[in-house]
Amino acid sequence: MIGKVKHAEQVVDSGIDMIVAQGHDGGGHNSPIGTMSLIPQVVDAVGDRVPVIGAGGISDGRGVAASLMLGAEGAWIGTAFLATDEAGIEHFQKEAITESGDADTVVSRSLTGKPARMIRNKWADAWVAAGKEPLPMPFQSIISGPVMASGLKAERKDIMPGFAGQGIGLIHSIRPAAEVMRELVEGAEVALSRSFVGDMQSSQQDKHQK
Ligand SMILES: Cc1cc2nc3c(=O)[nH]c(=O)nc-3n(C[C@H](O)[C@H](O)[C@H](O)COP(=O)(O)O)c2cc1C
Repeated sequence: MIGKVKHAEQVVDSGIDMIVAQGHDGGGHNSPIGTMSLIPQVVDAVGDRVPVIGAGGISDGRGVAASLMLGAEGAWIGTAFLATDEAGIEHFQKEAITESGDADTVVSRSLTGKPARMIRNKWADAWVAAGKEPLPMPFQSIISGPVMASGLKAERKDIMPGFAGQGIGLIHSIRPAAEVMRELVEGAEVALSRSFVGDMQSSQQDKHQK
């Protein structure tokens, strides 16, 4: 899992099976580079040494298709599978996902000490308001851990809604994971076939104009 070309170059020849290029849109520990920009640059840097999988903000089939279009061999998805019956997070956290939109996540060091994208919450906001620098990893977790454990126990969406990516606004209900998977695959097929039809049409237009 990498978030910069430099990091891909550091690990590509270490015997790994694949590289996941996760951009700024993604949930959890975060890259400063946007997904759309990161994927093709990592693909170019890695060449055919190992497969590159795109990640970060991919929450439906169009995103999967986009990852393939950018040169990746697949898509790696976290947030979309959190609002499923099978996900191991709490029900109130699944609800927080379905209730959130594109602007409802923040990147904050307040949980682990490293930048991580999460649903906006009072703990992250309080660190900004206080103007305090979180401690470096792993020490910040020692401070945040008990607060998050209490927030989880008290089912406080406003304190411990959890990590999530910017594709969160595409998720509207809690569903079986198989349904999410089916839609991802079907949506990707539709998006890819549309782009193929578009290609055909534009090449026919070109021919006509000539
Ligand atoms: C709740 C949550 C926990 C995660 N934990 C890890 C982890 O422990 N290790 C890791 O490499 N990535 C972790 N990630 C990142 C995911 O593997 C994945 O790259 C990311 O979710 C993709 O972006 P998306 O959430 O927009 O789909 C986590 C993501 C989420 C949402």
